[in-house]
Amino acid sequence: MNDELLQLVQKFKPQYKNGKVAQYIPALSKVTPSLLGISIYDIQKDQLYTAGDHRHPFAIESISKVPVLLLAIQQNGLSTVFQKVDAEPTGFPFNSILNMEINHRKKPMNPFVNIGAIFMNSFIKGKRSTDRFHQMLEYMKLIMNDPSLTLNLEIYHSESETGDINRSLAYYLKGQHILPETCDIPDLLDSYFRQCSVNVTSDSLAYLGGLLANNGVAPWNGKQLCSKKAATITKSLMTTAGLYDESGDFSLRIGLPAKSGVGGGLLAVAPHRYGIGIFGPALDIQGNSVAGMALLQAVTEWLDIDIFE
Ligand code: DON
Repeated sequence: MNDELLQLVQKFKPQYKNGKVAQYIPALSKVTPSLLGISIYDIQKDQLYTAGDHRHPFAIESISKVPVLLLAIQQNGLSTVFQKVDAEPTGFPFNSILNMEINHRKKPMNPFVNIGAIFMNSFIKGKRSTDRFHQMLEYMKLIMNDPSLTLNLEIYHSESETGDINRSLAYYLKGQHILPETCDIPDLLDSYFRQCSVNVTSDSLAYLGGLLANNGVAPWNGKQLCSKKAATITKSLMTTAGLYDESGDFSLRIGLPAKSGVGGGLLAVAPHRYGIGIFGPALDIQGNSVAGMALLQAVTEWLDIDIFE
């Protein structure tokens, strides 16, 4: 399988020319656009297949919204979380400040758009940002089978220095009394900026995909690391909102629950079969990896894993 994957990586690498690395977070704009790596974790064989730049570390960015949602559910229960956040696709870009107003919403529309993800930070136990982030990082290490995960300080500072749209979203939540008056907004945002700045590899994403594919039981050690229901709901949300306003088109082309990040990561799940991690930092205008999606489409066709087939 590694040989076939390498051929596909070589075939789809030139697609990076149709995209651009994220510019609005200056540290991300320095990443080499032509990198491309893939990792596929076979949950039945407990075996990882890899090709290309699969060991190259990159910022997890919005893919962190998956572990943080799972942790919020673990700490508070499903019903508490979904009483306060909806599960609807927005049809708007990930950092839209308009979607709640235009759609007449009193809650963030889902935990994957930035406003919902920032809100999720208020569900993580711990008074201070560093306490919350410590728990997030430890949980990411567990569910990605990667004890070496660390915070990328350069990305974190860059996120924080340029995060004014995210600040607007957090103050909007406070102004709408969705976050309490007493909420320390800069502190809340700080743990959000940190969660986005964890360095991962496509290998780490493939293991996370494997956990979700196996309904919350880690195939590499047999431990239940999130509930079956949390895994199921997360896959549903990934299908409807994982790629923001490109989720519908993605579903037609690829037909797998997936989550993207502006660091170039792509996490996909083939239920009961595989966890897939891809890294390709050149993005389309919706903020999703161009070469990564082309590669994932080819892999999905090759392995015959479209869930709608
Ligand atoms: O908050 C932001 O804008 C970034 N830290 C994360 C956005 C992101 O990854 C959107 N996904 N494609």
